[in-house]
Amino acid sequence: MREYNWATLGCGVIANQLAQAMEAKGRRLYSVANRTYEKAVVFAERYGIEKVYDNLDEVFADDAVDIIYISTPHNTHISYLRKALESGKHVLCEKSITLNTEELTEAVELAERNHVVLAEAMTIFHMPIYKTLRERIQSGSLGELRLIQMNFGSYKEYNMENRFFNRELAGGALLDIGVYALSFVRWFMSSKPDQILSQVKFASTGVDEQAAILLKNQQEEMATVILSLHAKQPKRGTIAFDKGYIELFDYPRGEEAVITYTEDGQKEVVKAGATAKALEYEVEDMEKAVLGEADEMHLDYTRDVMDMMTSIRKEWGMKYPEEEA
Ligand SMILES: NC(=O)c1ccc[n+]([C@@H]2O[C@H](COP(=O)([O-])OP(=O)(O)OC[C@H]3O[C@@H](n4cnc5c(N)ncnc54)[C@H](OP(=O)(O)O)[C@@H]3O)[C@@H](O)[C@H]2O)c1
Repeated sequence: MREYNWATLGCGVIANQLAQAMEAKGRRLYSVANRTYEKAVVFAERYGIEKVYDNLDEVFADDAVDIIYISTPHNTHISYLRKALESGKHVLCEKSITLNTEELTEAVELAERNHVVLAEAMTIFHMPIYKTLRERIQSGSLGELRLIQMNFGSYKEYNMENRFFNRELAGGALLDIGVYALSFVRWFMSSKPDQILSQVKFASTGVDEQAAILLKNQQEEMATVILSLHAKQPKRGTIAFDKGYIELFDYPRGEEAVITYTEDGQKEVVKAGATAKALEYEVEDMEKAVLGEADEMHLDYTRDVMDMMTSIRKEWGMKYPEEEA
């Protein structure tokens, strides 16, 4: 398969993981663009990357770049998406891909107009365990889907300056971790939930620290999602059917699930993929999409999740500075 030239825009925690995923595949990122040039230089030295841009914007004009990986804070994504897509670059953008549906719609239109692939780096859509479980569900052995439970708890220190609680950096539980929980729900549900109720607890900065969300779709499949930025929760998702249930562990980068068939109590362990390879799977699926071989990026799900998050925040009356008229 053709190897594409990847540029990373941003060189923080998750960009390091991408560079390591490339290394694990015996490859290297082609270039790095970053707000702070000195950090880009250190990053490039660490991973043997040949090109560092003096000015971040140079990445968009570099003809050698095929795919740009955007890994800056959420609220900066749309401005980089505009520039990258208008320059004809394919883009894999970290979650949450945009702040809201309006921004995502604009990015999708730009990608279509420029005939490039736009995708969110949503691990869940690329880990083999999710694909394997979906095949198992589609075989019909578990019956009809009834309920999904997906909680995500992450303990972040009460530092109101960091990106998790900082409104100026589009902080809050929904965009940071809720996006995973809702992507999990959307992956297994037959259609986008169209009825949503929620409760929220705000941090002192005005971003959502905790939330509880109830969802139902046209097929009357239901889900509950409980989020916290200041309390850990077990990394477990359950998906219940009329003939059994699935427990998926170490979500979102899981590699193992247990299926319990409730009619006879039989249990089956399902293993697929490896947690450590999460970003490698994303890279592989992205390159297949760019090549036109297969589209497993699920931008349709990304759009559904963004619609849900946008309507939930609307109910809460919670706006980011960029959204205030
Ligand atoms: N950490 C994770 O486990 C993880 C996992 C999945 C997805 N993500 C997503 O990836 C993104 C980045 O997360 P991270 O944990 O890697 O963050 P991080 O370690 O804080 O790195 C942030 C990067 O963005 C740059 N940046 C910060 N503010 C900026 C601004 N206003 N304009 C331009 N660039 C700016 C920083 O540049 P400087 O060097 O100049 O500070 C740095 O390169 C977020 O969207 C997050 O949701 C993170």
